[in-house]
Amino acid sequence: MRARRALLYMPGDDMHKIQKATGLGVDCVCMDIEDGVALNRKAEARTTIAEALRTLDFHGSERLVRINPVGSGMEEEDLRAVLPHHPDGIVIPKVGMAEQVRWVSDQVADVERARGWPVGQIVLLALIETARGVINLKEIAGADPRLAALIFGAEDLAGDIGAVRTRPGWEIFYARSATVTHAAAFGLQALDMVYMDLKDIEGLRAESLEGARMAYTGKQAIHPNQIGPIQEAFSPSEEAIAHALRVVETARQHQAEGAGAYALDGKMIDAPVVKAAEWVLERARAAGKI
Ligand code: COA
Ligand code: MG
Repeated sequence: MRARRALLYMPGDDMHKIQKATGLGVDCVCMDIEDGVALNRKAEARTTIAEALRTLDFHGSERLVRINPVGSGMEEEDLRAVLPHHPDGIVIPKVGMAEQVRWVSDQVADVERARGWPVGQIVLLALIETARGVINLKEIAGADPRLAALIFGAEDLAGDIGAVRTRPGWEIFYARSATVTHAAAFGLQALDMVYMDLKDIEGLRAESLEGARMAYTGKQAIHPNQIGPIQEAFSPSEEAIAHALRVVETARQHQAEGAGAYALDGKMIDAPVVKAAEWVLERARAAGKI
């Protein structure tokens, strides 16, 4: 599993921000051609991103490009500009139907074959941020083997359904919960919503931990200051890792002795607890903590 704890967006027509992003130690750098770029700057964004992919060292950060929505009329040109420079993945916004994911996958496969690259290496991440996307989650999550993650977009969803965003977020909670549940059901990662208040780092930390407890594996970021708190919140703590190691080890011993359930420090351990501990260890490994 590749860690995708923080995914930092920046406008694709802004070379300074792209360059800056490559030195921040962020898991994913996502160069945007969609809503972060003005209509009259789309062409500039395509050439800037192509140049960045061609010339910059991303120091291990995943190199992602967010294209315009499938059906917008801009998506083909977006892909044509960036795919020849082999990004690590494509982020597809406003996904409403599985066919949109499969269409992008086919375009990617054509380029991989034409260039003699291994087919299937370039991943896809689908943004769930419309009412259609939410009700079609089951088909979208199972749409294509390239799909690595679902991303939840709260602001666009609120706009799409006519909800008013609030701090507690009950207006988007069903979709936030449905997205992470479908991701888990299909073995995908799930990236949580953007925290819009750039100055409120404590609020960001709290919302990140809330997402991590919901089983999100990461979160979208829009400013360099958000990366540290997000990546910390989505890395298992030292205590959690130590406890998980103990659970897995003692469970192995008890299994060998024929006991499926046993007590550790006065708490019952059985299969679901062991599974949760193994999940902690997998995330710790991906984050380079063990
Ligand atoms: N990625 C990379 N670098 C960024 C960045 C980002 N998302 N946001 C800010 N920076 C850089 C700035 O260029 C600046 O660099 P410098 O000190 O070398 O000049 C530094 O970080 C500090 O930035 P700051 O002045 O605090 O922010 P700003 O006013 O320049 O920008 C935003 C504020 C919101 C416009 C900017 O954070 C941004 O573009 N965010 C992403 C927007 C986006 O992509 N939206 C679509 C997806 S939701
Ligand atoms: Mg959006």
